[in-house]
Amino acid sequence: MAIKKIAVLTTGGDAPGMNPAIRSVVRYGINQKLEVIGVFRGWWGLINEELKPLNHRSVSGIIGQGGTILKTARCPEFRTEEGQRRAFDTIKKYNIDGLIVIGGNGSFAAAHDFYKKFNIPCLGIAASIDNDVNGIDYTIGTDTAVNTALDAIDKIRDTATSMERIFVVEVMGRESGFIALTVALAGGCEDIIIPEKEINLDAICHDIVHGNLIGKMSWIIIVAEGAGKAEDIAKKITDITGLETRAVVLGHVQRGGSPTAFSRDLALHLGKIAVDCLVSGKTDIAVGLACGKIIEVPFEVAIQKKELKIENLYKLIKILT
Ligand code: F6P
Repeated sequence: MAIKKIAVLTTGGDAPGMNPAIRSVVRYGINQKLEVIGVFRGWWGLINEELKPLNHRSVSGIIGQGGTILKTARCPEFRTEEGQRRAFDTIKKYNIDGLIVIGGNGSFAAAHDFYKKFNIPCLGIAASIDNDVNGIDYTIGTDTAVNTALDAIDKIRDTATSMERIFVVEVMGRESGFIALTVALAGGCEDIIIPEKEINLDAICHDIVHGNLIGKMSWIIIVAEGAGKAEDIAKKITDITGLETRAVVLGHVQRGGSPTAFSRDLALHLGKIAVDCLVSGKTDIAVGLACGKIIEVPFEVAIQKKELKIENLYKLIKILT
């Protein structure tokens, strides 16, 4: 079937770079003589018919903006037969030939299921600050989020060193320690607590006390949100070591902000490739970056749990502190 009209949506947690990805899909799509429809609030917009045709000017001035002009949402209704059926009806009503889904592994799981049941061509563009799409090295938004967190950690370092304090800094990542590991290395942090590694608070406290004895008075320990709460961990460290420990939660600040050049360029390339893939009849795959190349990963693979190779990185973090 020839693809003439496509729809684009953003779903799940927003990531800086989604806007440039939309811009690329829209402008490249139009260049390829396609009609491009924007769906608002992700799957919810398909279920509730919130769609609007997009033209060249619709995506003006968004290249440097965080978030997504199409809005995004988590949509439990799309996991139901009824929700999927209504989304399918909208697609048929608007004569949409294929969908471009910009999101992370949860979004791809939903797209995969929808494709299997309703045979609507679906193409994914990997975007998530968590960098947890299997088979893909860097998702859109990861680089921006990591730099945002790092900027904050550098600032915390200034006060931690000056006041000789211990800080526990919580970064995002409910199921992934990627941001934590990356900023811990780049920020020269002393330890990490992530979902992928069993927590050994006694060992961390032992290092802190030993460090204190030889004159190392300030520490930054990074915790991924999925591995514990900064406040609780800081309290335990104080209880065990007797040393004042402060907690900082960076939170959703990591999801916002102008996308870095890396996040933008990746988004702009992936938008074009996604359109090409859809037009050439490909479906049920995500596009993303791996080993310096843009690759196609079947949704079935992309939604598997991504293994973080942590041991060497963790060792390096510890050696370099
Ligand atoms: O988008 C990924 C993410 O930021 C995770 O790191 C975090 O756990 C989750 O989203 C938070 O989602 P919400 O904003 O819906 O609470």
